[in-house]
Amino acid sequence: VSGGTVVPMITDLGIGQLHGALQDPALTSMNFLNEIAGQFPDAISFAAGRPYEGFFDVDLLHRYLGLFRDHLAEELGYDDARVTRTLLQYGPTKGVINDLVARHLRVDEGMDVDPGAIVVTVGCQEAMVLVLRALRAGPADVLLAVAPTYVGLSGAARLVDMPVRPVAGGASGLDLDDLVAQITKARQDGLCPRALYVMPDFANPSGVSLDAGTRLRLLDIAEREDILLLEDNPYGLYHGDHDRVPALKALDTGRRVVYLGTFAKTVLPGARVGYVVADQRVAGRRGDVTLLADELSKIKSMLTVNTSPIAQAVVAGKLLDHGYSLAEANKNERLLYAENLRRVVDGLSARFPGRLGNGVQVKWNLPSGGFFVVVTVPFPADDALLDLSAREYGVLWTPMGYFYAGDGGANQLRLSCSQLTTAQIDDGLDRLAALIADRTAPSGREQDGPGKPPHSLAPVCPDRGGAGRSWRSTTR
Ligand SMILES: Cc1ncc(COP(=O)(O)O)c(C=O)c1O
Repeated sequence: VSGGTVVPMITDLGIGQLHGALQDPALTSMNFLNEIAGQFPDAISFAAGRPYEGFFDVDLLHRYLGLFRDHLAEELGYDDARVTRTLLQYGPTKGVINDLVARHLRVDEGMDVDPGAIVVTVGCQEAMVLVLRALRAGPADVLLAVAPTYVGLSGAARLVDMPVRPVAGGASGLDLDDLVAQITKARQDGLCPRALYVMPDFANPSGVSLDAGTRLRLLDIAEREDILLLEDNPYGLYHGDHDRVPALKALDTGRRVVYLGTFAKTVLPGARVGYVVADQRVAGRRGDVTLLADELSKIKSMLTVNTSPIAQAVVAGKLLDHGYSLAEANKNERLLYAENLRRVVDGLSARFPGRLGNGVQVKWNLPSGGFFVVVTVPFPADDALLDLSAREYGVLWTPMGYFYAGDGGANQLRLSCSQLTTAQIDDGLDRLAALIADRTAPSGREQDGPGKPPHSLAPVCPDRGGAGRSWRSTTR
């Protein structure tokens, strides 16, 4: 607006001229969350599923690089030129640390994996894109995904124009009857369900895990119905005090499972290293047989060429430093995440011991590991409320609606406990409790409705130093 007249902005492209994914909620919801987080940097964030930064150590990078260099020279007998080339030159598309990743999977997951069936990727995110690009062979191919679904998967599917059909998760983590019903329905609709995306361990966002019986029955259904299972397992090593249930891939005798891995939560997210195990045999047109991993690497060669060998070397160094065991390397992390999860759940119990004043209840689930807890509240937990929560109460969380294609999760929010200290958890829960108390007060602010802040505060960032700003909070 200039001098009272509206000057139209000159634009160069219309959004309708760009790929439809750019307007899809799967790609835009996280932007909103990131914007809010950027606007209110002093808010306590239960939003991001990031690993705890207290364990990061820049000096270890040098140690890990050195360990991998020694491994190349001493164990593999590479001369100096070859060591340098391996670390600094373009490299094989499938990766340079595949043997070490396979050893890690043997030690930590009890999986026997051919290193040639592994493609080392730029994070698990790239692995998802590769697999979905390959499986979307034609317009009938669709993906099934346990709802609620990780947004990274929904977004990747959108980028390759692969429709995603939800399968009910429910309290057990996966409703197998609904899975069979959805496969049948898709086929009746003339579609070809290619795979089910599932996170059997401490799922993001639900926190729920599949028991051993469900895993075995799922493998049977996959075999019978001739679909693949895309198993995503970023949180399996963070199993709290409970024994682990074997990964689907460790139970897979029929090459039904494509295993999506990441080192983001066990080494460091900044390395951007993940991988996919794709040992499925692919029949070529001339009678030749390749592995699905080989086909995925063709796609990767046109996407990222190869994963940074320097980043791979850092991951390899950590594996070498700990006898290939990331369970061993992350003993302290596992204890911290378990303690944080307990703190969140116990903190919710302390703050919401029974029904609220007007008879409504706040509920939450009790995951046995991982980073996430889902809280159900008696009002919509949407972007408008998140904005209010950040602005007025100084606490961030993730609306569960982000993880559903339809209107699921409307009254739910995801709390991530991985990144916070116990003091921050306590403070953050106080702030959340204040928000909930105000929204459910018999006469009061809930009448404003979500999206209508009780006070017209300018959207300014609070003082980074924390001074001069007091968040609304209950005193316990
Ligand atoms: C379900 C799920 N898959 C994969 C990842 C990791 O992806 P990346 O390796 O690309 O960081 C995450 C991280 O948040 C996740 O929650």
